[in-house]
Amino acid sequence: MRLLFATSEIFPLIKTGGLADVSGALPTALFAAGMDIQIVLPAYRGMLATCESPRWLGSLQVFHDINCDIYQTKLPGTQIPLLLIDYPQLYDREGGPYHHPVYGEWQDNALRFGVLSKVTALLAIPNALQAWQPEVVHCNDWQTGLTPYYLRQMNSEAKSVFSIHNLAFQGNFHADWRFRLTLDEQDFKVDGYEFYGQISFMKAGIYYADSLSTVSPTYAREIQTEQFGFGFQGLLKHRAADLTGILNGIDTQVWNPATDAYLPVHYHIDKLRCKKEVKHALQTELGLAQQANVPLLGVVSRLTHQKGLDMLATISHQLLESGCQLAVLGSGEPLLEQQYQALMQQYPGQVSVTIGYNEPLSHRIMAGTDIFVMPSRFEPCGLNQMYGLRYGTIPLVAKTGGLADSVHGGEIKAEGVPANMTGFVMPQNNPWTLLVTLRQAIKVFANPSQWQQLQKQAMLQDVSWETRAENYSNLYQTVVLK
Ligand code: ADP
Ligand code: GLC
Repeated sequence: MRLLFATSEIFPLIKTGGLADVSGALPTALFAAGMDIQIVLPAYRGMLATCESPRWLGSLQVFHDINCDIYQTKLPGTQIPLLLIDYPQLYDREGGPYHHPVYGEWQDNALRFGVLSKVTALLAIPNALQAWQPEVVHCNDWQTGLTPYYLRQMNSEAKSVFSIHNLAFQGNFHADWRFRLTLDEQDFKVDGYEFYGQISFMKAGIYYADSLSTVSPTYAREIQTEQFGFGFQGLLKHRAADLTGILNGIDTQVWNPATDAYLPVHYHIDKLRCKKEVKHALQTELGLAQQANVPLLGVVSRLTHQKGLDMLATISHQLLESGCQLAVLGSGEPLLEQQYQALMQQYPGQVSVTIGYNEPLSHRIMAGTDIFVMPSRFEPCGLNQMYGLRYGTIPLVAKTGGLADSVHGGEIKAEGVPANMTGFVMPQNNPWTLLVTLRQAIKVFANPSQWQQLQKQAMLQDVSWETRAENYSNLYQTVVLK
């Protein structure tokens, strides 16, 4: 199977969220299983200098006035060919892949990701760069949503799989962009790439891809409803036969408490006492009181409405009365950032808030806290709860999307911890239920033998990509036969 994997972010080169983790780990697992795979990504600032000996493959005429150089290198730490699209005017910029450092989204994102989508399609048809052509193109999220459209426009033989990682981000732009992006006028309609008078990259992906997937079975069902469908529920229902939900895995090399380079002390399932030393070091690092027996709650997240952390802020005073500690790392909505910073001022030594993006600290919070809190309003998959399972940091999650699929709640009775219990699941999504569920978790934490049992059950879960990558292989096999 020859596969071209298209993405707008990839770990360890550029990351804003879970898509990067998946884009790094899934191709690696597929490659290890013998798949002939290449990855395509824009060459953002500094990337050509960071990657190992990039080789110029040639250039592609993308639009009449845009000609891009394509370089081949390898995804760091692997042998997987990585194709970088070099077009400095669009990609060589200070700031994030989607945002200006200060002024919000880049105003030319339609063009920036239109080029990514078009280059991906051009690499899938006979071209002057290489003899290699994929049988399947795997597109991820709206940034590559036009690829399935361009593939059809060019009568490509390659089949497309479009994966939805988050339906809330849709890549909708002013209708006039269709001219710049050479989208055919006749397809600017409901049965096409049009979405409420605009062009929509997400809609194009959903409408034109041969097969659709999303990142958990529950989210695959949820997005067919009005509550979670963001306007696409009708189309997704219509395409339900072509839509599968495959739960993400995690990179168990990068996320391994026994070897994690960011930790001061390592631990594993039979050496859980060392996790306490990591907690101790984390408390010191974050200026929290040195109290080994107080439950330390962790949050590493985008601070947005999706993640439900406003609910945690709402109940924070009642929660903190119990004496527990809280360590937050994240950035996002200014109001929420301010609320959490105020909380830290109010509870010195009990609450630590770090605003920003910090990969090493995220590992230490994952390892050094006891309970990991994710009360998301919706969560296509979510990765942190799985990192939590692997690190024996018990996840407390909302019952939605991939959270519901990867964490098993339960009730502790006289017999002890139910054999399949791996965390705490909120039966409803509101601040009050969050507080009740947190109190339940804190109660179990107070019983060391029950807590250790729970930690061991969590750590024994298979969260690796190996088995889950097989589901993608099967999906690719099915789509070539379509
Ligand atoms: P999403 O992609 O919706 O933000 P996921 O749970 O799928 O949510 O993935 C988020 C990823 O980004 C995780 O690897 C998480 O550890 C990481 N992350 C989120 N915020 C931060 C931060 N402030 N610093 C470091 N890593 C972060
Ligand atoms: C998106 C989703 C998140 C998911 C990630 C990777 O960012 O919000 O739930 O884990 O994609 O698929």
